[in-house]
Amino acid sequence: LAVFARKGSALVREQRERRERMRATRDAVNMGGTTLGNVMGMRADEDDGDGPAQQAPGDADGSSAAAAAAAAAAALPPPAGATRSIREQRESLPAFACRDELLRIIAENQVVVIVGETGSGKTTQLAQYMHEAGYTRDGMIGCTQPRRVAAMSVAKRVAEEMGVVLGEEVGYSIRFEDCTSRQTRLKYMTEGVLLRETLTHRDLAQYSAIIMDEAHERTVNTDVLLGLLKRLAATRRDLKLIVTSATMNAQRFAEFFGNAPVYTIPGRTFPVDVMFSKSACEDYVDSAVRQVLTIHLSQPEGDILVFMTGQEDVEVCCEAIRERLAAVDGAKPLAVLPIYSQLPADLQARIFDRSPTRKVVVATNIAETSLTVDGVRYVVDSGYYKLKVYNPRIGMDSLQVTPISQANANQRSGRAGRTGPGVAYRLYTEHAFKHEMYQSPIPEIQRTNLAYVVMLLKSIGVADLLDFDFLDPPPLDTIKTSMYQLWTLGSLDNSGGIAPLGRRMVELPLDPAPAKMLVAAHGLGCTAEVVTIVSMLAVPSVFYRPKERLDESDAAREKFFVPESDHLTLLNVYNQWVSNGCRDAWCTRHFVHSKSMRKAREVREQLVDILQGTLKVELQSAGANWDVISRCVCSAYFHQAARTKSLGEYTNMRTGMVCHLHPTSALYGMGFTPDYIVYHELVYTSKEYMQCVTAVDPRWLAEMGPMFFSIREPGATKKRHTDMHMARMAAEFQQAKDDAAARTEAQRAQ
Ligand code: CDP
Ligand code: MG
Repeated sequence: LAVFARKGSALVREQRERRERMRATRDAVNMGGTTLGNVMGMRADEDDGDGPAQQAPGDADGSSAAAAAAAAAAALPPPAGATRSIREQRESLPAFACRDELLRIIAENQVVVIVGETGSGKTTQLAQYMHEAGYTRDGMIGCTQPRRVAAMSVAKRVAEEMGVVLGEEVGYSIRFEDCTSRQTRLKYMTEGVLLRETLTHRDLAQYSAIIMDEAHERTVNTDVLLGLLKRLAATRRDLKLIVTSATMNAQRFAEFFGNAPVYTIPGRTFPVDVMFSKSACEDYVDSAVRQVLTIHLSQPEGDILVFMTGQEDVEVCCEAIRERLAAVDGAKPLAVLPIYSQLPADLQARIFDRSPTRKVVVATNIAETSLTVDGVRYVVDSGYYKLKVYNPRIGMDSLQVTPISQANANQRSGRAGRTGPGVAYRLYTEHAFKHEMYQSPIPEIQRTNLAYVVMLLKSIGVADLLDFDFLDPPPLDTIKTSMYQLWTLGSLDNSGGIAPLGRRMVELPLDPAPAKMLVAAHGLGCTAEVVTIVSMLAVPSVFYRPKERLDESDAAREKFFVPESDHLTLLNVYNQWVSNGCRDAWCTRHFVHSKSMRKAREVREQLVDILQGTLKVELQSAGANWDVISRCVCSAYFHQAARTKSLGEYTNMRTGMVCHLHPTSALYGMGFTPDYIVYHELVYTSKEYMQCVTAVDPRWLAEMGPMFFSIREPGATKKRHTDMHMARMAAEFQQAKDDAAARTEAQRAQ
């Protein structure tokens, strides 16, 4: 990926510099104000998954604005259909025209891959057709979705279509929210939920069919499920498996399942002319702006859809279009509308409004498959998107502007041909398209931390991950780092198998580190507090920071600060909210998101259920002894420790990398910064920022992470524990692998 890394847009840079200058002035006035940057700016626009991953404050999730808009968009009936009955609407869908054929091919094959345009009825209709054909007599039909918002909104729609109450015959289940009952026959759920169900119900006997919807998105969970379901299909011959996909990847799925048939739902699309740029563009934002103006001033009517990479370039692009259009005499008006996941829901919904003038919608890749804007005749494609990339060596996720793949490019162009013939303007050359772009996007499994997946697979008895049937195997480096991390936490034993601690951790729908924190809290007598912290970390940021009231909201947040810890600050917010009766008015007054708080309470209740029900752990409070809570945080995050360098600047103790306190961190409240800290995660935006930090005693580090740290007595030589252990682990894994190979060989010989 680095090969493709490219300089950003000059327009965007210019605007950023302008903003930073303004901020610097503001901070100078505020005597070194503590708040730069915006936590919200750190998320991937399209990152809306329901993985087990702990969500950093500010991470997208189902309750985000994007989700709301996606739901709103999905629920919008086609303009002409506003007055049609539900039955008429159902029967007008492309899937209906081939209903019998779909059912026949499903009846004749155990595994079928189904391809169809967005809106053809795959998600809402397939499960219903199968239900009508009797497939739910002996079990449920499970339909997985990569995004939680889709699971919820689609279940709601299907319940409406079937005239039943949501949660009864038709239900949904997402992490921390189960809306199903004994009556449920059609269950929409996130991939993560089905993955966790395989922990307790290995053969998924409760299902007669699984529809893996939107498999082309290739989330980590899609890929792991594909492997597990392939194994399961071999033993459960009665299980029907349907994989739906956009055109990209369909053939690969079919091959993966031993040449399963691919059925394409005949669509109604119009031809799209594709125009390439003659030379490589210097600045894709600038080129896009010029292209939009050219279309607007010279082409017949029809709306324009522009693909940018993230919030920042979307906004700059919109601004520049408006500015430059204002300078053209006699130009017709143009409605300029941004769309990205962090845009408030009401502003997002505006892209669906009828406009008397031509519209230009400037979007992130949220508009590639998730949202559909009718009336688009022109697409302007920058050729880039923002991708979350994990670097196993430094254990850091970063959002990188990356060239899209050919499949993405074709999907984007196709958006111009939904209501009539269209034109797609690609701001890159044909040569770049053919020779520099990958055929399809890099699956998430090859660019993300796999600790959770490794722990899950180990706990269901996949001894050797290298032998697991992955559609695309994850990089060896990532598997090794993930296993090493799990070993340091105590969840894997020396031979790489799951350890008793790991068995307890895997019961919790959490990433390994927070799961460890919660399990460790039991021994330290602070489960009541730690379960709150973990819940607060699992929801989107609770702090509300409106642009127009930054100073006020920052002052409100600072009142909650526990100077040595962001984790304890979160605990403090929660406790105060509870002691103030969990009131919304209290939230408004203190610039706290009430929705996130309520969600945190729900998450907490469910984690408490698991603690008490499954792990047989009672809640104990540390009372006023918050030091023990910091110790508990340290026991799960010692592998992410840093030592102070200068104010706000730290050196990572394992990688030596310089990383920074986030300007919104409570640690600035101390007036000086503590010598040693651990952090929840490292995110790269403009700098390497540590998110959610707690000050620790260096002796705790030596005690809890002896493989990394030791206290050096004066005169003693420094030990290189890390390298030693890395080498030992590697040797042990190799040994375990050789032993297994020898065993197989011996069996074969018999
Ligand atoms: O999955 P696919 O993109 O093929 O289509 P779908 O999601 O099943 O949608 C089929 C139709 O159902 C759409 O054209 C919408 O009109 C309607 N729908 C809806 O009204 N509300 C939803 N939440 C989802 C779909
Ligand atoms: Mg769909």
